[in-house]
Amino acid sequence: MSAIITAREVEKTFRQRKRRPGLFGALHSLFSREVTEVRAVAGVSFAMQPGEAVGYLGPNGAGKSTMIKMMTGILTPSAGTLSVLGREPHANRMRNAVEIGVVFGQRSQLWWDLPVRDSFELSRHIYDITPARFAENLAFLADMLDMGPYLDRPVRQLSLGQRMRAEIAMALLHDPKILFLDEPTIGLDVVAKDAVRKFLARINRERGTTIILTTHDLVDIEEICPRLIMVDDGKLLFDGELTRLRATLGSRRRLTLEFDTDPGPLALTTATLTTDLGAAKHYLLEREETSLLDVLNEVGRGRGLKDVKLEEPDIEEVIRTFYQNKALSAEARP
Ligand SMILES: Nc1ncnc2c1ncn2[C@@H]1O[C@H](COP(=O)(O)OP(=O)(O)OP(=O)(O)O)[C@@H](O)[C@H]1O
Ligand SMILES: [Mg+2]
Repeated sequence: MSAIITAREVEKTFRQRKRRPGLFGALHSLFSREVTEVRAVAGVSFAMQPGEAVGYLGPNGAGKSTMIKMMTGILTPSAGTLSVLGREPHANRMRNAVEIGVVFGQRSQLWWDLPVRDSFELSRHIYDITPARFAENLAFLADMLDMGPYLDRPVRQLSLGQRMRAEIAMALLHDPKILFLDEPTIGLDVVAKDAVRKFLARINRERGTTIILTTHDLVDIEEICPRLIMVDDGKLLFDGELTRLRATLGSRRRLTLEFDTDPGPLALTTATLTTDLGAAKHYLLEREETSLLDVLNEVGRGRGLKDVKLEEPDIEEVIRTFYQNKALSAEARP
């Protein structure tokens, strides 16, 4: 299978005239050639296969939106090569647009004063979607995203959650092969977030739409994207499965054993006791390969074991550890 998106040492440097405060400063800035440079993306490489769902994660200013804008053809890379569906996106902006869908959480693609349905109609004309296909897609999307109650209301009257669902529908009407989303769940309440996540996961699974999304919400990644790309300062820090990130960091799974009555102190070789509440005991599993069966075998019968709970490490904790480790290794550098 050949890649649907390839980035090779992609860079984006923004050049801006240096600004000085005050009126004279402004005048000076106008005539001076002093520029400041911001390297928003500093040599990023990755490849995505058709049908993948990838989460692009990183702190504020890490270069996520800039990367999305380059892949959608809005911005031109300063260096490196970028290929989306076999083309350079910025050099083929129109042809690229036909095959991709884009959602910017912070900016609307819908017509503010028009009913949602009218924006969709405009999209039908722009992308030349056949009436049958349009009707089919609209029915599917309206149903899946529960848009019935507000399809005929102007966009400016919609709640953020309603608008975001309309934005996503708009981006999918023309059956794009790739859907780019820049912070699609920003500002949504838990219910709306959940609806959006479930929908995106389903579109990816059932229609095979390739998805790449940026987010600050790790649950988005957990529920939609098996693969995670982490960036900071414009550079790629990690590219792989979330499970591998967990394994790399050696994050330990949490084990809870509950007994009918307190069996007394219970040390295990497979797990480290962290809290002993008597009848309930909390442990951390030290090794990735330890299974629940290993633990049960070690606990043995006849102790009145009532319940067992094994939990994955909290993803927030995993990411925090990751950035902490990175900061530590940066400090260690001469
Ligand atoms: N048009 C621009 N001109 C100058 N600098 C820019 C421009 N766009 C982005 N930058 C700078 O590039 C860097 C990366 O910005 P970008 O928007 O890609 O970050 P981000 O990862 O999306 O952050 P956030 O999580 O806050 O959305 C920042 O330092 C930003 O100030
Ligand atoms: Mg951004």
